[in-house]
Amino acid sequence: MILAIETSCDDTCAAVVEPDGRRALSNVVHTQTEHGRYGGVVPEVASRAHLERIDGVIERSLTDAGVGLEAVDHVAVTVRPGLIGALLVGVAAAKGIAYARSLPLVPVNHLEGHVAAAYLAEPDLEPPFVALIASGGHTALYSVDREHHMHLLGETLDDAAGEALDKGARMLGLGFPGGPALQMAAQSGDRNRYEFPIALKARDNLDFSFSGLKTSLLYRLKELGEERTREELQHLAASYEAAVVEALVRKLLRAAEIGESPAIVVAGGVAANALLRRTLEEESSRLGTKLVIPPPDLCTDNAAMIGAAAPHTPAVAYPHYLSLNARSV
Ligand code: KG4
Ligand code: ZN
Repeated sequence: MILAIETSCDDTCAAVVEPDGRRALSNVVHTQTEHGRYGGVVPEVASRAHLERIDGVIERSLTDAGVGLEAVDHVAVTVRPGLIGALLVGVAAAKGIAYARSLPLVPVNHLEGHVAAAYLAEPDLEPPFVALIASGGHTALYSVDREHHMHLLGETLDDAAGEALDKGARMLGLGFPGGPALQMAAQSGDRNRYEFPIALKARDNLDFSFSGLKTSLLYRLKELGEERTREELQHLAASYEAAVVEALVRKLLRAAEIGESPAIVVAGGVAANALLRRTLEEESSRLGTKLVIPPPDLCTDNAAMIGAAAPHTPAVAYPHYLSLNARSV
């Protein structure tokens, strides 16, 4: 079994995953609530909260899976990218367990983890495919080749999609994290009421940009004033959410078309978005392309996805990982 640990941002996570990385026996996520009042993740607060929780979360992942540490033959951990202090808590815990039991350690890239969530959702899935990762920290398009290597096709030039949703939600007074709050407010809103810009529309461009969208919302709110903004809240939320979703869908479909990709994978926290899921389901069935979007609990940060990436990641043999470091980028 693979014991996987993930602490790159504000979720303290541990999971037990089968050796082929295609099924999780447990997947424990403790989401830190300490950041709510700051309207964003505070790195130092995150590190301390990970430290307090990590042992309990790992223990629960073993209990939930119904196995003891003796069943574990690999320890996988997120080593990059992420908040450095937060990453280090997970890396230190993983090293400790691996070293104590003379096990190999698998240093996993968080982004490869997000993509590998697709193998848990669809155990028969094999590359090649194109993958969109859209989270609070990242928005990027990759082609994944038969050897599971990821090739960057395009990425955001400024804010991540989730960041754009979070900032938009904050401007609308909807709270944090903004994605789910915005989605809720948008439910009864009219997506076509307000027009927000979609950046980098050129067909051969696979990069994203969300800073103009954010500015455009800011100006719109100034124009409307406080009272009208309150009255129009659902419509503003719906139109803003729709603009983020359209930007993502447009580039993803274009990437699939250019690479003649037989399958599309979407991962990262924003993949939990209902409008994005619905739009891609319609578009992919129209194009006859296979679509894999993991269920929401595998899209947001979790350790099962890190375990799923482990079989495709070179392991470091005992005890050569003691000097292994985490990296923020
Ligand atoms: O992957 P993730 O859990 O953490 C990072 O690595 O960033 O992604 C978090 C992001 C946040 O920006 C959050 O607002 C967004 O995912 N998110 C959503 C939804 N659920 C989470 N965005 C849109 N719709 C959702 N339902
Ligand atoms: Zn993430």
